[in-house]
Amino acid sequence: MKEKCYETFLSKTTQDTINLGLRLANYLKGGDVVLLKGGMGSGKTTFMRGVGLFFKVREPIQSPTFIIIKPYNISKNNVFFKDHKLIHVDSYRLKKKSDFYDLGFNEIVNDKKNIIFIENPSNLMANIKAKYIVYFNINKNNNRIIKIFDKS
Ligand SMILES: Nc1ncnc2c1ncn2[C@@H]1O[C@H](COP(=O)(O)OP(=O)(O)OP(=O)(O)O)[C@@H](O)[C@H]1O
Ligand SMILES: [Mg+2]
Repeated sequence: MKEKCYETFLSKTTQDTINLGLRLANYLKGGDVVLLKGGMGSGKTTFMRGVGLFFKVREPIQSPTFIIIKPYNISKNNVFFKDHKLIHVDSYRLKKKSDFYDLGFNEIVNDKKNIIFIENPSNLMANIKAKYIVYFNINKNNNRIIKIFDKS
């Protein structure tokens, strides 16, 4: 399938990547899914820190590698996102589809109050409809090349 359109960004610092996450979050509503793809240390969780800033998440955004699914409350002061949750998923450790059902992933995806980011989406999630796919690459200067595909 042909990709509709994408934009490429050069991130020279951790802060650049945080700022990009903050900007992308601005375009999201409940029910949206964003996939974050790229190698270890390429900046996916760093990008999520910007997303957390946009949604005024109070706790630090950390890699959900071991818990796999981490929900965050979104600021109650923001009327639009009242009752919504930011869900940060890392399926790196996921082995079987049944593990996913056990964690309640189906209910989470079907709840239109959730805004979902998935790091390292596994092939088990191939049929999830994403609004954006973000690709992270480290170039030879240790900068990050970040491509955002709009799939909507
Ligand atoms: N331009 C940059 N953008 C993002 N991170 C950067 C940049 N420059 C340096 N870094 C550093 O690289 C590291 C990126 O780690 P991060 O946890 O975000 O990667 P990740 O893609 O989530 O990795 P993993 O696959 O292990 O979850 C951080 O320590 C960050 O400070
Ligand atoms: Mg990570």
